[in-house]
Amino acid sequence: MSKLLVTGASGHLGQLVLRHLIETEKVPPSQIIATTRKPESLADWAAKGVEVRVADFNEVASLQQAFAGAGRLLLISTDGVGTRLTQHGNAIKAAEAAGVQHIIYTSMPDPANSLVSFAPEHLATEQLLEQSTLTWTILRDSWYFENILHSAGVWLATGKAYTAAGEGKLSHIAREDLARVAAKVLASNNSENRIYTLTGAEAFTTQEIVDLVAKTAGKTIQVIQVGVPDIVAGAVHAGLPEPIAQMVASFDANIAAGQFAAITSDFTTLTGRAPLPFAQWLAEHKSALVAH
Ligand SMILES: NC(=O)c1ccc[n+]([C@@H]2O[C@H](COP(=O)([O-])OP(=O)(O)OC[C@H]3O[C@@H](n4cnc5c(N)ncnc54)[C@H](OP(=O)(O)O)[C@@H]3O)[C@@H](O)[C@H]2O)c1
Repeated sequence: MSKLLVTGASGHLGQLVLRHLIETEKVPPSQIIATTRKPESLADWAAKGVEVRVADFNEVASLQQAFAGAGRLLLISTDGVGTRLTQHGNAIKAAEAAGVQHIIYTSMPDPANSLVSFAPEHLATEQLLEQSTLTWTILRDSWYFENILHSAGVWLATGKAYTAAGEGKLSHIAREDLARVAAKVLASNNSENRIYTLTGAEAFTTQEIVDLVAKTAGKTIQVIQVGVPDIVAGAVHAGLPEPIAQMVASFDANIAAGQFAAITSDFTTLTGRAPLPFAQWLAEHKSALVAH
């Protein structure tokens, strides 16, 4: 019987997917293959009976073997912004050669019309899947609530939140919920080619997000609206390389353009439950926010 395979299994999302496969979807560990560049970090899963294999999307020669015996494969997009289209293409080709039937890919909302600097990589990966011999499910994941943990440190330390997002809204979602969906689709028999956009049930302006973070942490944060070039300049001044600064600013530009505001019911359609509300996520992460 063919197995379910999760790539990038040592990442934050990959770890949560493994847990949901076993605990929520009740897939026997012996039916799961977890691939990673760091097999030593998956020792606990191996002890539970998950088959851990090495797979690096840059190592084309070993990929087909790494994917052998898998029927359905969750391709977690890599963090190799700028080089990951090649990486994803290598993984798709290896999956075809290894006899995988269905790939599930973690993309982003509306990549064709997005202002996010790396959206073309996701769009092109989706197109590679559509042109492949495989069947596929594309999960267009909205931004994680968890991304806020990166910004909140600066907001809370300085009392200021600079943004170029204007009145644009973001319909973000818990990473845990995205893992829950990915595990559900991976464990299903569904082989229809489908695109789902996974968002939270509410969308918030940056002012609303910052106010909620401030309230949770018991502090005051002032939101300061600036232009996209100001966000780039500020990020470069803070030490980020120019392309990363452009990337960060492009998130705000996309929110300002209304491209992150759509709310869909796809999460509930796929899981039969409501996504975790932002207020509940904030309450659960209060200690992480207060620690800043
Ligand atoms: N929607 C959002 O807000 C959001 C935020 C951050 C990232 N993302 C995207 O979603 C993905 C998963 O998120 P995350 O939170 O789990 O990120 P993460 O913890 O940073 O994980 C990075 C992932 O990239 C994989 N990877 C890196 N280089 C690879 C290579 N050469 N070959 C195969 N896999 C490689 C890692 O796998 P191993 O280390 O196990 O090899 C790991 O799964 C990210 O990689 C990124 O594409 C989305």
